[in-house]
Formats: sequence, structure tokens, C-alpha cells
Amino acid sequence: MRVRAKANQPDIKPLRGVIRTVYKFDPKRSNVWLEADGDRAYVVKRFESSPAKQQFLRCLHIHPGQCEIKQHRKLEQMGIPVVPIQEQDWQAGKLCLITPVMGQSLDRAAQAGAFDQPAARHALAKALGELTALLLSKQLFFRDLKCSNILMDEDGILRLIDAGSIRKVSAAQLPECLKRMTKLLEKTAVEAAGQSPISFAISKTDRFRFARTLLFNLMPNKALTDALEISRSK
Ligand SMILES: Nc1ncnc2c1ncn2[C@@H]1O[C@H](COP(=O)(O)OP(=O)(O)O)[C@@H](O)[C@H]1O
Ligand SMILES: [Mg+2]
Repeated sequence: MRVRAKANQPDIKPLRGVIRTVYKFDPKRSNVWLEADGDRAYVVKRFESSPAKQQFLRCLHIHPGQCEIKQHRKLEQMGIPVVPIQEQDWQAGKLCLITPVMGQSLDRAAQAGAFDQPAARHALAKALGELTALLLSKQLFFRDLKCSNILMDEDGILRLIDAGSIRKVSAAQLPECLKRMTKLLEKTAVEAAGQSPISFAISKTDRFRFARTLLFNLMPNKALTDALEISRSK
């Protein structure tokens, strides 16, 4: 199956099998689609800069896809829940990364109504608090920590995708990093919720639940609690 794109835009062609769903269509940056080959379903992300540029960056080992593979591997070893990049392939000079389907991104899940029930929102606030605390406890800053880069599986487990930009920061930088990550998370959650059939604001209770979980999970980390000026006696 070929998915016909808008006028003047190249078609997305399957890498090996049949395209089931196009998740993202951005001919300037990346196209992402779900493909099936026999019994196997997987997600393909194809980088869309010019083949010449991609080959050049590849030779220098600084292609963004190569960096994403390396970073995901490192994060996995550190115990961060990331979706593994199983394979890479080239299609007409463009790098494709292949990942398993491990749920839906939070923005798509919200649009499908997965968080319309308060109990689902409470569980999500808690899970996001745990995930953010885990990143901070390893002194990691993910400047792209947003709903479209977090997958949730059927058991409510969260995993990161598109995590090539995660970097290690000093303890002193953590408060600023926390501020930026929570701001982006909130902004993208509100955007996704706004497109849900039942539009909701993130309640004060859920903000507290997120904050409480985050602080509770950070408590054993002295460097971090010092940097965030969290007193154990409070
Ligand atoms: N392994 C996956 N399983 C399910 N959905 C995925 C997977 N990988 C990507 N997606 C979907 O495709 C979207 C874009 O993928 P992403 O890797 O974030 O690409 P980009 O770098 O272009 O943002 C995600 O927001 C998500 O909805
Ligand atoms: Mg993304």
C-alpha cells in the first residue's frame, strides 16, 4: 500500500511490508508510520533531510538517527524505560529507525479518550511523577519530555521514545531542568486534552499528585534534594 501525500510531497513507501497507520507526516523533518510484515508489526521513523546531507552526517557519525540509537542504548543500560531501537535501514539514502509497538503516545491516547475518566488521569499524574523523578535522580535532562514522546502500554507503563536529546546535567542545573520539563509536559498535556471529546483542565489534585510522587521519589537522593532545597524535616 502506498500512502498518497499532499500535492508536491513525496509518498511514504513501506520499508518491507504494508503501511497500517501514518503517525506523523512532516516531509521536512521526519515521517513516522506503523508497518506490518506478515505477523510482525513495527514502527518506522524516516529522517527527511536530503540524502546528501544524511550521508555526510553518517560518515561523521553525527547523523541524528545514529545519535538516537546510541542514546537509547545508553539509557536502557542506565535503567531508564525507553523503547528499544531494534534495527536501522536506509531507504533511498534516508535513515529509518525501527521500533516495536509498545502502546500509544500520550497525546494520541488523550485524543482517543484514554484519560477522560478521573481515575486514569490520577494514575497518569503519578506515573509521570515517577518517570520525571527517575530522570532527575540520574541527573538527566530531557528537553523534549512531552506527551508525543512518551508511550503508555495497556498496563499503564510509560516508556520514552525520541530520546536522542537527553543529556547529563550537573546537580545545580536540576531545578531549572525540572521547571522546563514540567512546563513542556503540562503544555502538551493541555493541548492533547483540548482535542479530546471531553475537554478537561489538569486539576489541582493531579498537579499535587504529580508533585507529591516526584518529591517522594527524589527524597533518597541527597545531591538532588540539596539542589532543589527540599528539606527532609518538612
Ligand atoms: N514505537 C512506537 N509505538 C507507537 N507509536 C510510536 C512509536 N514510535 C513513534 N510513534 C508515534 O509516532 C510519533 C512520532 O514519533 P517520534 O519518534 O517522536 O518522531 P519525531 O522525532 O518525528 O517526533 C509519536 O508521537 C508516536 O505517536
Ligand atoms: Mg517526537
